[in-house]
Amino acid sequence: MRTDTGQVFHLDDYKPTDFLIPETQLDFALHPERTIVKSTLQIERRQGIAADAPLILDGDELKLIDIRIDGAAPGDNTYVATPDRLEIRGLPQNGKFTLELTTEINPTTNRQLTGLYRSSNVYCTQCEAEGFRRITYFLDRPDLLSIYTVRIEAERSEAPLLLSNGNPKDKGELTNGRHFATWHDPHPKPAYLFALVAGDLGVITDTFTTASGRHVDLGIYVEHGKEPRALYAMDALKRSMKWDEEVFGREYDLDVFNVVAVSDFNMGAMENKGLNVFNDKYVLADPDTATDTDYAGIEAVIAHEYFHNWTGNRITCRDWFQLCLKEGLTVYRDHEFSADMRSRPVKRIAEVKGLKAHQFPEDAGPLAHPVRPRQFREINNFYTSTVYEKGSEVVRMIRTILGPDLFRKGMDLYFERHDGDAATIEDFIKVFEDASGEDLSQFALWYDQAGTPNLAITYDYDQATKTFEIEIEQSLKATPGQPSKKPMHIPVQFALLGTKGRELKPRSAKGGLVKDDVIHLRKRKERFSFSGISERPVPSLLRGFSAPVTLTSELTRSDLVFLARNDGDEVTRWQALTQLLNAKLTSNSKRVRGGKPATIENSSIKLLGDIAFNPALDEAFRALCLSIPSESDIARELGANIDPDAILGSRDALVSAVGESLAERFAELYDLLDHNGPFQPDAASAGRRALRNVLLDYLSVADNTPKLAAAQFSKADNMTDRAAALGVLVQRFSGSDATCQALRSFEERFGNDPLVMDKWFIVQAMQPGNEALGKVRGLMTHKLFSLDNPNRTRALIGAFSSGNQTGFNRADGGGYRFFAETILTIEKKNPQLAARLLTAMRSWRSFEPVRREHAREALATIATVTGLSSDVRDIVERTLA
Ligand code: PHE
Ligand code: ZN
Repeated sequence: MRTDTGQVFHLDDYKPTDFLIPETQLDFALHPERTIVKSTLQIERRQGIAADAPLILDGDELKLIDIRIDGAAPGDNTYVATPDRLEIRGLPQNGKFTLELTTEINPTTNRQLTGLYRSSNVYCTQCEAEGFRRITYFLDRPDLLSIYTVRIEAERSEAPLLLSNGNPKDKGELTNGRHFATWHDPHPKPAYLFALVAGDLGVITDTFTTASGRHVDLGIYVEHGKEPRALYAMDALKRSMKWDEEVFGREYDLDVFNVVAVSDFNMGAMENKGLNVFNDKYVLADPDTATDTDYAGIEAVIAHEYFHNWTGNRITCRDWFQLCLKEGLTVYRDHEFSADMRSRPVKRIAEVKGLKAHQFPEDAGPLAHPVRPRQFREINNFYTSTVYEKGSEVVRMIRTILGPDLFRKGMDLYFERHDGDAATIEDFIKVFEDASGEDLSQFALWYDQAGTPNLAITYDYDQATKTFEIEIEQSLKATPGQPSKKPMHIPVQFALLGTKGRELKPRSAKGGLVKDDVIHLRKRKERFSFSGISERPVPSLLRGFSAPVTLTSELTRSDLVFLARNDGDEVTRWQALTQLLNAKLTSNSKRVRGGKPATIENSSIKLLGDIAFNPALDEAFRALCLSIPSESDIARELGANIDPDAILGSRDALVSAVGESLAERFAELYDLLDHNGPFQPDAASAGRRALRNVLLDYLSVADNTPKLAAAQFSKADNMTDRAAALGVLVQRFSGSDATCQALRSFEERFGNDPLVMDKWFIVQAMQPGNEALGKVRGLMTHKLFSLDNPNRTRALIGAFSSGNQTGFNRADGGGYRFFAETILTIEKKNPQLAARLLTAMRSWRSFEPVRREHAREALATIATVTGLSSDVRDIVERTLA
């Protein structure tokens, strides 16, 4: 484990390397405890670097066995090797030489899952961001590109399969039951994209022919017996390859593309060149074990990793501060892919919900950082929703500002100009400026200023002159290290709606810049004036969620109802409904906290009913509207002095009022939506299931019996309906016979499939109220549970801490104390995972004073431990700062 040294890295300190490594040859002799790695590096000193400059290579827990320079052992006093560094002096005068290094590593004891490790007897690697240095000494940084040839040797019985990046070159038998394979990757790449996989796995294969006729062999490797569960991933892969050709003009560039699913993985998946390694959660699916959400996740992550081949691999990042260059852009690309595969507005609303649930709180709390940070202590802690999701929003805004054609022209220029480069955000912005002639310097602030801007909006309509005016004032609060901010360029897509939602077209616009349906806000405060507006319009602002901002507008309740009923843009329509519901839910939370009952108007109930029964609306959209804001959504709206018990009371009151009033018609619709025929994972079928499953919750609450949910649970022929029913049972009827029986039957049926059992752990970790903590403690002793496995740990500890508002944030602080203890245990095995989980406490300051104090104490017990990892030290200190 890398203990914290207090060292901070700065973007401004960037300096190119003194040496280049044009070619790298790696030779692995695999052994569970003693793997020998021999690397042969062709090294060249850069022009202009002094002849006596030392070569300093990165390492991490390495043991050097042998070293040669041009075939000869260097003198003892010319090099110093420690576990985390190799420094060599007195190098050949001409600056060109071959360095051979031999290291020994232990994949079995490697529990932090970076470098070379074993997962269920499969050898695999994870090198992003700085894992390659745990395999051999190297210039382990993204701007050092090298051509790799890899030879892997292993016991055939243990590892019949030997994979690495690029194309297969050679293979054969050796003595003593050993065999080997050689791979060559012709594309220069940084070390973080290196991968090796060896083991005994099942495979499904397919082929793809690219637009220019290249034949590509596709393989997805999974545990033996699970091959049929990889078919959906294969289908998603082929659709991704085709889509990238059609939409971005990007073709695949090797003869093979392999995907391997492993069960121990810190993240979702990894885009290693030609050999993507996946968390099995994002590969394995069939109707009986995967939900619609799982299917959508697989499609998105398969696409994401594949798209990295161009945005990340062929054009990589100059340094880790530029992480959003590959991640924000690739998330944008996978979002667009899913939107094309499914319903665009429904996909967009899901993105907005995700952004508000994860990125907005990050931006509003102690861990706020710019999309492109300028400093870090631990890079692993910057794989955040700000870098990924807000990074994607920034790319989307470029497209909104330039329009689709100039955006595509800019992207083409990016690929043409920077193919083979390690690039920066400046390079990225420049291609769009060059392609469009626009000045994006103010826009570039989106990469530098942390925090979510707020737009305060006022309106004015003058009947006499038929003029409508919108005034917008932008503000951005201070964030860590950024006390004051500059005004940004914010694209606000809009429409002015007349009677029945008809769009009123202004004759002309004056004041700030308006182009087509986009208001370009560029000053702190700006007026936009529209003439030729014959009636007082209701403005529909931020259509398509055109910028990641919050709005404070003076729209009345009746304006919002109007938008919720009539807006032709589903995103703003949903947004208006959400705003109405939030107003009710927050005011009721305050009432409940003050000991008063919640109040609910019939008009809100009627509105939800009208949406539920409107056949003109997509079922998935209706489901989104009926899933009223979650407890954490309400907490975020309240912002301060949060009491999760009062929030739960407020939310439950609304669900039961709606359920009771609409019970009969909801029951009819629930029956009507029952499907016949086999399960299909497509978006329309998923939408129907989603709508039916929200209705199940309303009906169960209204009825106050677990009967309907229990019936759905036992009848279900797919995991979506089964898991939804189990959710209602545990959330609403914990302790009932029906719930206990359902939990038992789930365990009996899926008890030998840990990945499926994660759903069983999650649902119980989310049980509301004070009983949850005891449940979670108990489940930690379950035979399938293990803190060594990230998926299990996230299922139980992650769901409890980040998803269970009342159970985790208990008023007595028991949830926090348990969490602090558990984080310290996890840290000893896997510091990266521990640090990620710990971010669940980032909003601790917004709780009411009693919980806030308990939270502070729990964080302080972590902070006072000596010898913390850099990962946990960084998060705990920033959270407390
Ligand atoms: N680069 C991976 C992705 O987003 C994420 C990842 C980061 C995986 C670090 C492992 C380690 O696609
Ligand atoms: Zn990525």
